[in-house]
Amino acid sequence: MDCAIVLAAGEGTRMKSATPKVLHEIAGRSLLGHVLAAVSEINPAQLCVVVGAGREAVESHLSQIAPTAKTVFQDRRGGTGHATQLALAEIKVSGTVIILAGDTPMLTGASLKELVAAHKASGATASVLTAEHPDPTGYGRIIRADDGTLLRIVEEKDADEDQKMIFEINSGVYAFDGAKLAGAINQLTAANAQGELYLTDVIEILRNEGGSIGAVLIEDFVETLGVNDRYQLAESAAMLRDRINETHMRNGVTIVDPTTTWIDVQAEISNDVTIFPSSAILGKTTIECCAVIGPRTTLNNCQVGQGASVVESNCTDSSIGADANVGPFTYLRAGTVLKESSKAGAFVEIKNSQVGAGSKVPHLSYVGDATIGEGTNIGAATIFVNYDGVEKHPTIVGDHVRIGSDTMLVAPVNIGDGAYTAAGSVITEDVPPGAIGVGRSKQRNVLGWVMRKRAGSKSAQAAEAKESKG
Ligand code: UD1
Ligand code: CA
Repeated sequence: MDCAIVLAAGEGTRMKSATPKVLHEIAGRSLLGHVLAAVSEINPAQLCVVVGAGREAVESHLSQIAPTAKTVFQDRRGGTGHATQLALAEIKVSGTVIILAGDTPMLTGASLKELVAAHKASGATASVLTAEHPDPTGYGRIIRADDGTLLRIVEEKDADEDQKMIFEINSGVYAFDGAKLAGAINQLTAANAQGELYLTDVIEILRNEGGSIGAVLIEDFVETLGVNDRYQLAESAAMLRDRINETHMRNGVTIVDPTTTWIDVQAEISNDVTIFPSSAILGKTTIECCAVIGPRTTLNNCQVGQGASVVESNCTDSSIGADANVGPFTYLRAGTVLKESSKAGAFVEIKNSQVGAGSKVPHLSYVGDATIGEGTNIGAATIFVNYDGVEKHPTIVGDHVRIGSDTMLVAPVNIGDGAYTAAGSVITEDVPPGAIGVGRSKQRNVLGWVMRKRAGSKSAQAAEAKESKG
């Protein structure tokens, strides 16, 4: 029975954050979530996470993303060896034990699988995932014997000048023979520069006991990068963005400017979708074939149908039907459903509303808590007045309705199928099917007013010149 232990009790002091380090997110997933996603690819029978700093927040996050994970509490920083001791005391140790840190979001499931496969094939007592790092500062260095076998790991703070020149680093990811690890872990001492129990010292102990130690050199050191501060958070986010974008592009998505296109891990995008620059595809957004997104568009948890277009817009928890047109400058809030071939145009805000097939809200409108039928046109600057200052109320607009420009639809109110409203109306009563609702005062003109009240003004002069010309 294989077991994975994730060490995530560290304080993450350098993040300078009220949020525990491993809960910071990149690409729509916590750092810990990225690590657990990689771990899930080796499918361990037991998963154990050592938590410490921000324990409550981390545990509640874990209950969401990995409800079967066992958590072990480390109340003080005793080192990676100490954290491992606590975990091993809590689990049934048998088979292979994989240990890794909770702050390495770039690690892939493929590399973990490679480590575990190499470990099992070689029958080694312990196998370490290593990388050639262009700047190894801060990492534990891999010390090999003349025959190339792994002797031990020396931490930066304990390394001499020669050892600091070694570029091969310890990634902090290991596979162990569980029973042998359980025996060695209690022999650790804190006789080192940091006064901690180092998990890395287990390697030398096992080797001295006659165990064989393997090393799997990972091709791309980027996978081993840990996040310790906001600078590294942004670096990892950019690298993950590039990795995610590459996958979509290889799957047939056109990304015009990959450096300004941010796509979360859970988004699904069909081939032949085009994404223009400075766009973000967040959360569980899905985009069907041939849709065009951007530029400067954010979609968060949205479904976008085939052939739809969303330009310069911000949309959350909304469904955009096939061939629908959104934008530019449209704000779709939670609960917006645009049916096929509908339109939400410039400076339109919609929330918790359905816009029927082929219906249009082309300009300068607010639509809230409304159900709009098919083939209906909502004139420019129409406002669905859904809030009486205390409560929200619904508006129902039928099929093939023509709402005149600048109409106020004061909810609750129903506009029947095929009805019209006159431009500038304040509609407070239902309009029956086929009727026109007129809710405004009749116009009157006061003749000569400008010449009398604004005598000599440019307006008065213009009016008088017109009069004298006849
Ligand atoms: C560790 C390794 C180092 C390796 C590096 C890779 C040791 C002694 N050193 O160093 O060889 O190159 O990782 O990134 O293991 N943690 C706990 N409890 C503790 C201490 C740490 O849970 O008491 C957790 C941390 O939250 C972190 C992980 O263990 O997720 C590694 O700890 P960290 O302090 O980052 O170790 P490094 O000094 O980076
Ligand atoms: Ca670290």
